[in-house]
Amino acid sequence: MTKKTSVGLIFGGNSSEYEVSIMSAHNIYNAIDTNKFDVYPMWITNDGYLASDEDSRKVLNDPKLAVSNPHKVANISNIIELKDRPEIDVFFPIVHGNLGEDGCLQGLFRILDKPFVGDDVLAAAVTMDKEMTKILAQRAGVLVADWISIKRFEYDDANNEKRDYEFVAKKLGHDLFVKPSNQGSSVGVSHVTNAQEYEQALKEAFKYDDKVLVEETVHGSEVETAVLGNDKPIVAGVGQITNAKGSFYTYENKYDDNSTSTLQIPADLPEGIVEKVRSNALKVYQATECSGLARIDSMLRDGDHEIVLTEVNALPGFTNISMYPKLFEEVGIPYTDLITKLIEYGMERYDHKKTLLHKHD
Ligand SMILES: Nc1ncnc2c1ncn2[C@@H]1O[C@H](COP(=O)(O)OP(=O)(O)O)[C@@H](O)[C@H]1O
Ligand SMILES: [Mg+2]
Repeated sequence: MTKKTSVGLIFGGNSSEYEVSIMSAHNIYNAIDTNKFDVYPMWITNDGYLASDEDSRKVLNDPKLAVSNPHKVANISNIIELKDRPEIDVFFPIVHGNLGEDGCLQGLFRILDKPFVGDDVLAAAVTMDKEMTKILAQRAGVLVADWISIKRFEYDDANNEKRDYEFVAKKLGHDLFVKPSNQGSSVGVSHVTNAQEYEQALKEAFKYDDKVLVEETVHGSEVETAVLGNDKPIVAGVGQITNAKGSFYTYENKYDDNSTSTLQIPADLPEGIVEKVRSNALKVYQATECSGLARIDSMLRDGDHEIVLTEVNALPGFTNISMYPKLFEEVGIPYTDLITKLIEYGMERYDHKKTLLHKHD
């Protein structure tokens, strides 16, 4: 019998998506193919502590134990202790947002010289930043919502015209979305239609980031697709999210039981639209140099039915009922097999990188 692969399943972290991470890891832990993999759960607590294997296992068996101290921003430098885990063959980081999804954790794995699941440093960093994603997508010929970005130093300047709703509205229209450039799960995102709301929205978004995007509102429904793989990625079908009138896909609508948003997988849309969503997604995946996985989100615009890119998620929600796994299940890759493939893609990328020459003289 061949030896099983040891997987370090890292979850938790200090982002606003802490609870989402715990739920994703709980589902992965229960579904991973135990004939192939030995799982070592590694919980980054909300205080930034790398918990013992025993406590980590307890939390994955009963996720409620982890949600005692949510949203406390903490230093997670204890994660450096991963260097003392030589028995781990591959890391599976299921840490959303800040430090987990933005290239930082990925950089640590690179330094530790270990294979890992999901996007590498560059793709994780650029897809975490919605402005960088837009710039690269445009370059690949993919339509994005028109936007301006505001840096903190501009916001701090009372005379800067970007703080003026009428000035911004002249460029983008009166119906706007305001969001931190680097965030997730709709945290800090607002929809505004007047000066007072605009001011309030800027204040809110700057709580989370030093760069805020103001975008034209795209009216329509949300369409998402899932991409998997390295050099020859495969694209799943398309799912659709329809929000209640006057609402959008807020944190509550994403995760609360009384959500007013409805998900349809697969979407009931004409073939041409589905194909456009899929081909755009592949272009964006490649333009941002993703590997492993990403979920690519767009708006299907009312009226002209154009597909307008919203964002790329390097580490999408990964519970067994989340959009990403569901989209692959629907094209014949069950949750357990998807986990296996992701681990294999991480190891394949690592093995390839090993063949590159590193010149030190
Ligand atoms: N330009 C836009 N037009 C219409 N709706 C938007 C726009 N930008 C964001 N939204 C709404 O806000 C939600 C969250 O925005 P998004 O850019 O996806 O950030 P996050 O990373 O927090 O998910 C989207 O799912 C959508 O419902
Ligand atoms: Mg989103």
